[in-house]
Amino acid sequence: MIELQSMRWRPAVGVFICAVSILAILSCSNDGSGGDAATGRFPIAVTEARVEAGAPLYAANCASCHGVPGVSRPPVPTAPPHDEAGHTWHHADRLLFEWVLDRPPLATTMPAFRGALSDDEILSILAYIKSTWPGDIQQFQREGSSQYEQQLRENS
Ligand code: HEC
Repeated sequence: MIELQSMRWRPAVGVFICAVSILAILSCSNDGSGGDAATGRFPIAVTEARVEAGAPLYAANCASCHGVPGVSRPPVPTAPPHDEAGHTWHHADRLLFEWVLDRPPLATTMPAFRGALSDDEILSILAYIKSTWPGDIQQFQREGSSQYEQQLRENS
């Protein structure tokens, strides 16, 4: 009898432990950097570690065409600057990530970085680019990136 009762409780305990773990993950990921919710990488969290890793990767892989935001104009005239004068911040993080991985739609010059850069390296480069934007633009673009994720969830 006692054994039967404890058997009946086991699934409930399991569900409870899952719920607590999910809550823990959600609260841990809420580190104030505004991204990387438990379910995914977008919006991309702009952390100090990522920005530090992203800056030299950007200099080595992107600056020769796009210039350095806040420092130099794009050496390749058809490559948009990534600063606030450009339109990078008009796009959601997930799209920026996919475009760096496999080229933007209708790209003529922009190479694909799949295989050349790891996912983490691309996330760091994008975090670095985002870190160069003024606060209001960062916030606008972060909200847009969240809305984009929300729409994906609703349509799935
Ligand atoms: C060989 C030159 C070249 C290199 C290297 C390059 N890009 Fe581009 N990129 C371009 C050009 C040119 C475009 C505009 C589309 C086209 O014509 O290919 C573009 C477009 C983009 C876009 C879409 C436009 C925008 O601003 O939203 C993003 C994002 C981007 N590049 C990011 C990067 C990142 C990040 C790197 C480094 C990992 C990089 N690019 C490396 C030339 C380059």
